[in-house]
Amino acid sequence: MSYKAAENRYKTMIYNRCGSSGLKLPAISLGLWHNFGDVDDLSNCRSMIHRAFDLGITHFDLANNYGPPPGSAESNFGKILKSDLKGHRDELVISSKAGYLMWPGPYGDWGSKKYLVSSLDQSLERMGLDYVDIFYSHRPDPETPIEETMGALDHILKQGKALYVGISNYSAEQTRTACAILKEFGSRCLIHQPNYSMLNRWIEDGLLDVLGDEGVGCIPFCPLAQGMLTDKYLKGIPKDSRAAKPHGFLQKDRITEEVLKKIDSLNRVAGERNQSLAQMSIAWILRDRRVTSALIGTSRVEQIEQNVKALDNLEFSEEELKKIDEILK
Ligand SMILES: NC(=O)c1ccc[n+]([C@@H]2O[C@H](COP(=O)([O-])OP(=O)(O)OC[C@H]3O[C@@H](n4cnc5c(N)ncnc54)[C@H](OP(=O)(O)O)[C@@H]3O)[C@@H](O)[C@H]2O)c1
Repeated sequence: MSYKAAENRYKTMIYNRCGSSGLKLPAISLGLWHNFGDVDDLSNCRSMIHRAFDLGITHFDLANNYGPPPGSAESNFGKILKSDLKGHRDELVISSKAGYLMWPGPYGDWGSKKYLVSSLDQSLERMGLDYVDIFYSHRPDPETPIEETMGALDHILKQGKALYVGISNYSAEQTRTACAILKEFGSRCLIHQPNYSMLNRWIEDGLLDVLGDEGVGCIPFCPLAQGMLTDKYLKGIPKDSRAAKPHGFLQKDRITEEVLKKIDSLNRVAGERNQSLAQMSIAWILRDRRVTSALIGTSRVEQIEQNVKALDNLEFSEEELKKIDEILK
């Protein structure tokens, strides 16, 4: 069935400026780490991309290794782009990354120029694109000089194969260094992609300050802690959930009694706000103005619809924030 984008797709989404750059990102972006591989149902992938775009989600986040098998999320996204979204390329911000194991041998992992440049070429081929909007160094490499990794990002910018570059999983200190090196090249770091949620608050301890100082945007991944920050695990592990899937990254043993107790209490606070826990978890990470966009994952269309409604209530009272801090202690 052919797809026609909803006429009203820009009516309700909020678009936030990414740091001090010219680029705006939707307050909620969709990541294709899980549920878009060859192990998944392509028609469900298509429906999720369509619904997301219809709701104003213009940013889709990928990486070379997303699948499984690695690379298949990019290939599937490429198919959907070609068949359904071809006329909308200039309305989309598409990102990819390299930094984790992608192919055997010494050139298919980490942060060398050799790896990053050739990996992006492969990603472009899989997605059928001439350029990505954002290309990331997926993780810092302790063995490659950071000058080389940033030099590779700068090279990619100058080749025109990415419009912007970013970093992911870099510490506050590594981020400051990366920004300074890119500036020396006459380029800039657009954005940082860190893990951040109510269950993982490490970026509050320095990284957010660096991003604010440097005018770099922030797009936290796993804002729902892979689904733990929803009500889905409160009554056991559903058969169709990430924790139950053999290829899911969420291990069952992470859903401990202690975590469930916190989730249950958070779920009550969300209820008092007339939100689902998923919605409150997204609103909570967006409460800091330095956070540009919440990078969610979904396994079905209804989750996208529910999560976008988080934007209906982004305000937190002092009392609510205190209650949440108390629960998370
Ligand atoms: N840079 C990095 O190193 C890095 C690392 C990880 C992720 N990422 C990026 O971040 C994106 C998001 O990661 P994530 O998928 O772990 O994010 P997440 O939003 O924390 O978790 C998504 C999962 O939560 C469940 N869920 C979502 N909405 C729900 C709702 N309303 N009710 C109940 N369950 C709901 C779904 O799992 P079920 O399958 O159980 O339904 C969904 O797949 C990735 O796709 C990727 O782009 C980046």
